Amino acid sequence: MAQFGNTKQCYGIVAMALHWGMAGLLAGLVVLGLYAAQLPDVGFDKTKIRLVLLHKELGILALMLAGLRLAWRVGNALPRLVEGLPEWQQVVARFVHLCLYALMFAQPVTGWVMSSAAGIPVSFFGLFYLPDLVRYDEYLFRFLLALHQWLGYALTLLVALHVGAALEHHFVLRDETLRKMLPARARTDGLSPRGRARTRPLPSAPSR
Ligand code: HEM
Repeated sequence: MAQFGNTKQCYGIVAMALHWGMAGLLAGLVVLGLYAAQLPDVGFDKTKIRLVLLHKELGILALMLAGLRLAWRVGNALPRLVEGLPEWQQVVARFVHLCLYALMFAQPVTGWVMSSAAGIPVSFFGLFYLPDLVRYDEYLFRFLLALHQWLGYALTLLVALHVGAALEHHFVLRDETLRKMLPARARTDGLSPRGRARTRPLPSAPSR
């Protein structure tokens, strides 16, 4: 049966839901941000304004989920990386995870401060307004706009690296890495005999 919390062997359903939900949300935010940014500023077409407002609201949702995810991560077991991974790869994997966490916060926070510097309050789906973090400052706004853009590129690059590594583990090395982040059914169904053999707990491993 699926468990809520993580174990040393795999992620629980809450961590999985946050991971996959946020993966979709962040991918959508990058696409929406890039699309809205290249639309013209002038004219009667309000599409750009509507899309930027939606981008901001979803960005604040991503910030809230990042807080929830960090709290869940700190209060839960951290599943072990797959056995036999060279030490440098373990360091790189943990470092990439750490950078992804940093960007999950830095990206929405720079957006929020940028909006405050532009003198435009951030609303959360019409339910409430967030406080302005800084006063109107055009120079700061331009700086944060560039920073927000570059952080978006960094996030895209790191996610590509992260996804590439996950897919290599799954399809080339055929180990447990990706299955640790998938619901139990996917972890036991449709595996190669090699993959299935590796899902059995080691005799010394604590049972879940
Ligand atoms: C915006 C997209 C993504 C972000 C920000 C992200 C972020 C993270 C982070 C921070 C972790 C560390 C676990 C944690 O503390 O929560 C993680 C683990 C993991 N992610 Fe992602 N992820 C993304 C997309 C994906 C995708 C598309 C895949 C697969 C194709 C994937 C596969 C995995 C796997 C397999 C792990 C577990 C690694 C392990 O512990 O050995 N991620 N992800």
